[in-house]
Amino acid sequence: MDHLTLLLFISFIFFILFFIFQTRSSQSAAKNPPGPRPLPIIGNILELGTLPHQSLTNLSRTYGPVMTLKLGRTTTVVISSPQAAKEVLQKKDHAFSFRTIPDTIRAHDHDQISVVWMPPSSQWRVLKRICVTEVFSAHRLDSTQTRRQRKLQDLLNYVDEFCRNGEALDISDAVFTTVLNSISNTFFSMDLARYTSDKSQEFKDIIWGIMEEAGRPNVVDFFPVLRVLDPQRARSRMMSHFGKLFAFFDGLIEERLRFVGLEMEFKRFNDVLDSLMQLMMNENPQVSRPQVLHLFLDLFVAGIDTTSSTIEWAMAELLRNPEKMKIAKDELRQILREDEQLEEFHISRLPFLRAIVKETMRLHPSLPLLVPHKTEDEAELCGCFVVPKNAHVLINAWAIGRDPNVYDDPNQFKPERFMDNEIDFKGHDFELIPFGAGRRICPGLPLANRTVHIVLASLLYHYDWKNPNGFKAEDMDMSEMYGISLHKAIPLKAIPIKA
Ligand code: HEM
Repeated sequence: MDHLTLLLFISFIFFILFFIFQTRSSQSAAKNPPGPRPLPIIGNILELGTLPHQSLTNLSRTYGPVMTLKLGRTTTVVISSPQAAKEVLQKKDHAFSFRTIPDTIRAHDHDQISVVWMPPSSQWRVLKRICVTEVFSAHRLDSTQTRRQRKLQDLLNYVDEFCRNGEALDISDAVFTTVLNSISNTFFSMDLARYTSDKSQEFKDIIWGIMEEAGRPNVVDFFPVLRVLDPQRARSRMMSHFGKLFAFFDGLIEERLRFVGLEMEFKRFNDVLDSLMQLMMNENPQVSRPQVLHLFLDLFVAGIDTTSSTIEWAMAELLRNPEKMKIAKDELRQILREDEQLEEFHISRLPFLRAIVKETMRLHPSLPLLVPHKTEDEAELCGCFVVPKNAHVLINAWAIGRDPNVYDDPNQFKPERFMDNEIDFKGHDFELIPFGAGRRICPGLPLANRTVHIVLASLLYHYDWKNPNGFKAEDMDMSEMYGISLHKAIPLKAIPIKA
């Protein structure tokens, strides 16, 4: 081959390679979900604002139900329709079930042991199975029901004082204490707070602090090179919050060990801690002591704030819509005989109350973007998009719940929309996914389901409620505050009147 032929041959090969490369990259560019144009370095971070679920909902109206944003160095795909959510959470959940780890969650290596943050590994499956069989099984919840019933009575005694004095009750605070004690009695057979003591505030501060640190934008999550500097001191604050909870849980285990002595019999309290300690002390232990500590941290953080903020939103909506409150109260009076105590089994006989809870979770999902998912490898989505490896995937349950293509009058509180259909929040109906769906679905759903309904039913059955200071129902402030969970920006207060 002479020089000219060789040159022509090499040019031809280059041309072919260039052509293939160009075609491939333009094909993959066409397959990336659309999204707003990113700015250099920071990408679309500024578009998130202080209420990211709302900003992302607005953006999805322009770019569609599967869209891409660049948040600093990370590619984020946002899902905003039931169809796309079904694909991510159910059909292809093997590809989308990994977690984006916020830097704060690396405190005490929590990300390595936590059921919330671990990848879907065999260790994660063991913990999730323990949640299903030991913590939230119907049998366990039935056997601990009387303890939660006592905590409800404590709430009613507390609210009675406000009735007698004609004072406004801070519903947010009272419900938080009730939920905290209901969960702690289910798990440890003990109260962690009193309504009037600072201890309740101390726990509330730790848990809210954790949610806030995990949810607040942290520059390290957008630019991982800054991790060693922890410039916002977020991880160091999280170290302190986690440390306090671990010390507390470890003290409980130590105390139980002293009770039990050498007998190794953990049936004295018949609660979740007994069961987990049994699994821990077996000849072939299924869980280690650190795993138990991290599991309790997960369960407390994931369970208390989500459950109590849902009850607070439901009460706020009912105070704003007194005619719906009246229907719920009438329904309760119809099924309960005079002086009959309200119990968890009554919930199945209260369809309007159940519709109220669904409607509240549709409008105010306590985790509006669920817990962030992640791809481990490049994954195909909806037949026409490619989601890159290591992309963050946010499922916007708030946007789905308020989509006018899915619900009529999506911003109106209309519980009756759930009365003549089977739509539920248990992970089969992707238009209502406050607990997620698929393998990452919330394992605490059975306990949350009982607690939200029974606390709400008790507040409605025993009291009439009045807005303080002649405040008009329709003027109630419903603005939101975003941590990782969604709160009412102004805590709800109302005056109870004995019904
Ligand atoms: C109204 C109350 C609650 C709501 C709305 C809620 C919602 C959620 C959501 C959206 C997820 C993430 C799903 C996903 O990533 O796709 C989740 C996960 C989780 N929730 Fe809940 N939750 C509630 C109550 C509870 C309770 C009471 C507990 C325990 C006491 C709990 C424990 C957990 C745990 C451990 C996970 C992690 C599961 C995993 O990553 O595999 N949750 N929850």
